[in-house]
Amino acid sequence: MKILVTGGCGFIGSHIVDLLIENGHEVVVLDNLSTGNKENLNEKAKFYEKDIRMNLSKIFEEEKFDVVIHEAAQINVRSSMENPINDAEINILGSLNLIELSKKFNVKKFIYASSGGAMYGDPEKIPCDEEHKINPLSPYGFSKGAVEWYIVNSGLKFCVLRYSNVYGPRQDPKGEAGVISIFIDNMLEGKKCFINGNGEQTRDFVYVEDVAKANLIALEKEGYFNIGTGEEISVNNLFEGIKKVVGKGEKENRDEIKGEVSRISLDVSKAERELGWKAEVKIEDGLRRTVEYFKK
Ligand SMILES: NC(=O)c1ccc[n+]([C@@H]2O[C@H](COP(=O)([O-])OP(=O)(O)OC[C@H]3O[C@@H](n4cnc5c(N)ncnc54)[C@H](O)[C@@H]3O)[C@@H](O)[C@H]2O)c1
Repeated sequence: MKILVTGGCGFIGSHIVDLLIENGHEVVVLDNLSTGNKENLNEKAKFYEKDIRMNLSKIFEEEKFDVVIHEAAQINVRSSMENPINDAEINILGSLNLIELSKKFNVKKFIYASSGGAMYGDPEKIPCDEEHKINPLSPYGFSKGAVEWYIVNSGLKFCVLRYSNVYGPRQDPKGEAGVISIFIDNMLEGKKCFINGNGEQTRDFVYVEDVAKANLIALEKEGYFNIGTGEEISVNNLFEGIKKVVGKGEKENRDEIKGEVSRISLDVSKAERELGWKAEVKIEDGLRRTVEYFKK
């Protein structure tokens, strides 16, 4: 298939691109390189350095994509609170631009990177399934839910993947998201790791290659699915786990961040049942691989 991956120079998008190419697909990447890096770009992919908010009609008309996998986004929760207009312009209007283009140019499937963690808010039930109410604590989370609404009501065939916390090689350690890459980077550089609040908040950490596999399967499936592990790990336990692999590490607690959920893990039984997908990489193994990458 001919597949457009937006955000294909970013962390998750670049792993999806690699896996699609490995599986014989023709891949076109569109990325404005705001947080992405051209070093992540697979050399077999065609590249457009463009913004998803631009008029992209000519590209859609010429390329005739079978599938759009939409990963490009403003991913910083804190910046979405400080500058909600910028967040909505990129995450809502930029996504809507791609949805309208996909309708106009007969794209056969729209696959979207949503966020379980940001959309469900503090879940009433853990692990949290797809039927949980949408209750975002930030404009970023709201933007994910809003785009899902546009997709579901677009008439396009779609597959929405609601990721938990994704980690692994190529995640930007200097960014705001990605506690695992930030901790590893700080430990390797002999710097302190800052823990927001008391560190007992929990997350569901899924390895990036498992997420890429879910996108490959989504080419053939429809619906909306949680993509995570179903396991809860506290930030304190995570710190100790990484410290064990790196061999050193210091921590300091600081104020908690508004808009962050306190506990979450995703119920992934629907993805197991309907996609035949299950996270395969255990956290110990994923941490080891990620530390190896950052050491290089
Ligand atoms: N990382 C996670 O834990 C996580 C969890 C849930 C959902 N997601 C979603 O997965 C997707 C990928 O996230 P990531 O962690 O790889 O982030 P990332 O920042 O590494 O990747 C985003 C990519 O999009 C590009 N981009 C940003 N704004 C753009 C614009 N206006 N036009 C064109 N390109 C633009 C960036 O340059 C970057 O390459 C995002 O939609 C994010 O919301 C991520």
